[in-house]
Amino acid sequence: MPNRVTAVYQLDSSQKAIEVAARVIRAGGLVAFPTETVYGLGANAADADAVAKIYAAKQRALNDPLIVHCAPPDFMDEGVFDWRERIGNRAPLVLQGLAQQGIVGALSMAQRRRADALIGSFWPGPLTLVLPRGARIPHNVTAGLETVAVRMPAHPVALQLIRLSGVAIAAPSANRFGHVSPTLAQHVLDDLDGRIDVLLDGGPTPIGVESTVVDLTTPQPAILRPGGLGREEIEHAVGKLAAGAARGSEDAGQSSPGLLSKHYAPRAALRVAADTAEMLRLHTEIAARGQRAGLLLTAEQVAACAGLEPQFILGAGLADVARNLYAGLRALDDDGVDVILIGAVEPAGIGEAIADRLRRGAAEGGAQAEGRHSRGSGNP
Ligand code: TXA
Ligand code: MG
Repeated sequence: MPNRVTAVYQLDSSQKAIEVAARVIRAGGLVAFPTETVYGLGANAADADAVAKIYAAKQRALNDPLIVHCAPPDFMDEGVFDWRERIGNRAPLVLQGLAQQGIVGALSMAQRRRADALIGSFWPGPLTLVLPRGARIPHNVTAGLETVAVRMPAHPVALQLIRLSGVAIAAPSANRFGHVSPTLAQHVLDDLDGRIDVLLDGGPTPIGVESTVVDLTTPQPAILRPGGLGREEIEHAVGKLAAGAARGSEDAGQSSPGLLSKHYAPRAALRVAADTAEMLRLHTEIAARGQRAGLLLTAEQVAACAGLEPQFILGAGLADVARNLYAGLRALDDDGVDVILIGAVEPAGIGEAIADRLRRGAAEGGAQAEGRHSRGSGNP
């Protein structure tokens, strides 16, 4: 394994690369590919041996289930599908395709109604639905659960890869377990070079935080992980969601094991300041202790923090912050700072996902050892 070299394909020109990658998927190999949220590490979702390689490459705990990525079924559009189009009233066809492929199992009336509404409004897009597991999905995809997480990514490379592979693709984010998700091909290489067969480089991922995970198997749908699609939009389509989940508690860890707190940790300690004034005060305090702080700044904060190095500018507005957050965390980590400082964000829309990742990253003060939090010990 350590001597293997990952083939990297740049996608500006060639469709050939996706064809090569699709053959690798069919042969049971591992392909990292861009989605609109973050890079995924994919394998044939129906092939338990291929799926096992994902866990090995990521060093991921076996009790953390994967998301199954699907494309619109061929019969829906005779092979012509614009990924920018919403599924709309073709949602029942998509669900039928998922059932025929053995990806999802039998749905109750309520599950079907909600799945239709959400798929129609938001697929392809950053929304993952937890539904009853179909018979063709191996247990290691779902970590033994009787439910399966499914999404249709809104990225032309991802959809084309799924289409050409002819199978659904199980894929977690393409990072080593415990690192933040990759939003650039380079991040994937930093974590997994030599451990995977192919990396499709599609440039930076446009959304930058993971998909929103919604559980449709409970009496009232619930968000298990806030993500690229805001709660408000989901509630607009299916009504009020159950409050509470996705808090990184032990409970949330049970229903969605990847939600244990501290999943999104940089190596440095992460501190979230209430405002720019507190950020400056913390910076001074940290320097006085003889430590180095790096700043993740929005455009509005740049002037007040002039001259403080290192700093990484996230951009203006929540969408920019989401898009650049993980790259900023990785860049400051690479710089070797002791503490990363960032201002709090309004937890509305995609801000809920940002606030969630910051809270998890800041829990226990920041450290990369993943296994540690599951044993509940603190940061030394
Ligand atoms: O945007 C995304 O969702 C990216 C891209 C690659 O699609 N994928 C991603 O996968 O973030 P991963 O494995 O890093 O996160 C998957 C999340 C985890 O929190 C996991 O616990 C949850 O989905 N999940 C998967 N299957 C589940 C299930 N059957 N029930 C509840 N939660 C599940
Ligand atoms: Mg992940």
